[in-house]
Amino acid sequence: MAAEGPTEATLGDHVVGQLQRLGATVGLSEADTALYGQILIDSLSDAAQRPLSLPPASPSFISDDHTPVEFSLACTPDGAPELRVLVEPGSAHSNMSDSARIGLKAIRTMAARWDFSTGQLDALEDLFFPASAEGPLALWYALDLRPGGVPGVKVYLNPSATGPEHAARTVQEALHRLGYGKAFTGLPQAAGYPFIALDLGSWQTPRVKVYLRHPRMSADDAFALSRATSGPAETAIRYFFHEAAGTTTSPEHEAEEVPRLLRRPALTCHALTSREAEPSGFTLHIPVRDYVSDDEEALARATALLIRFGMDPSHLNRGLHALSQRQLADGVGLIAYLALAYERDRPPRITAYLSSEAYAVRPPQEQRLLDELTAR
Ligand code: TRP
Repeated sequence: MAAEGPTEATLGDHVVGQLQRLGATVGLSEADTALYGQILIDSLSDAAQRPLSLPPASPSFISDDHTPVEFSLACTPDGAPELRVLVEPGSAHSNMSDSARIGLKAIRTMAARWDFSTGQLDALEDLFFPASAEGPLALWYALDLRPGGVPGVKVYLNPSATGPEHAARTVQEALHRLGYGKAFTGLPQAAGYPFIALDLGSWQTPRVKVYLRHPRMSADDAFALSRATSGPAETAIRYFFHEAAGTTTSPEHEAEEVPRLLRRPALTCHALTSREAEPSGFTLHIPVRDYVSDDEEALARATALLIRFGMDPSHLNRGLHALSQRQLADGVGLIAYLALAYERDRPPRITAYLSSEAYAVRPPQEQRLLDELTAR
């Protein structure tokens, strides 16, 4: 028998290890994390077996280092946060049509396994999976990793699949087909439509979500962009914006000037659940990684926010250590985004999006550069 060389760590090993350790910090059972880990591996197909010593097969837009997996912790005032995972199943393929085919297969496998309908997705195929689709993604899915082994399934699609110039029309047509014909006119103006998302499977109130991109956002803009009926409090939105973006901590910002996010733009997400024109949910996503010097600073901001919103910050701290052994000050981007989410009849949620860093750690950024970035 030929001697086998030392087995090389694969992308699958890396992300499943992270999932197991994160699962333990939020109180998921070993059986649940083992099941979710297997689903993650199966859905990544070829990419899961790829050794980490090789670069990613194609540059996934899920994370800055192109790992096709990202975790998130959704915190609420009561109890442990919910762990979620975002995945690009077709990441082994740079061709968007191939990627879409693999992605659809992954969703259909889940639909058969957990017995849910893909009707909404099927109704949109021609819009989001044209013959020669454009990137940067074809299909992502996210799982809310609930106890009991049946996750909440979300599917993310690219409104620019037929070109960014058609994104607005594609969103409008998709909303119309899904029965939200009045909703498009209720959305605020935006510079782009990065994603549309569908809740599939078992949800109390399934949502269709539209994500919008807003370069140069200010705190005033952040509040003005909310269209949700039981709207979030203005002070909460402003506080979140300033704390996450660090726009109050720099002495460079004088009172009469308006700080704006000049690096990676903030996103808003508008959730539709009823036939009314107004969305029932609003989320503000701040790409905190572009506005801190390192992850120690990102964690400090997240911690201040969680405490202010009445949430236990210890879960996030433990989560970061479950994810990576590196010192938080040695890089930036482990916390990719901080988000404040409002949904009708629910307490607000703060979500931290956590990078896997399978391929690279972004070095810390100098404070001097940062001050220039959050300009007036
Ligand atoms: N990496 C992309 C970005 O930074 C897409 C993305 C991944 C994203 N996770 C996210 C966007 C969480 C908003 C929130 O934009």
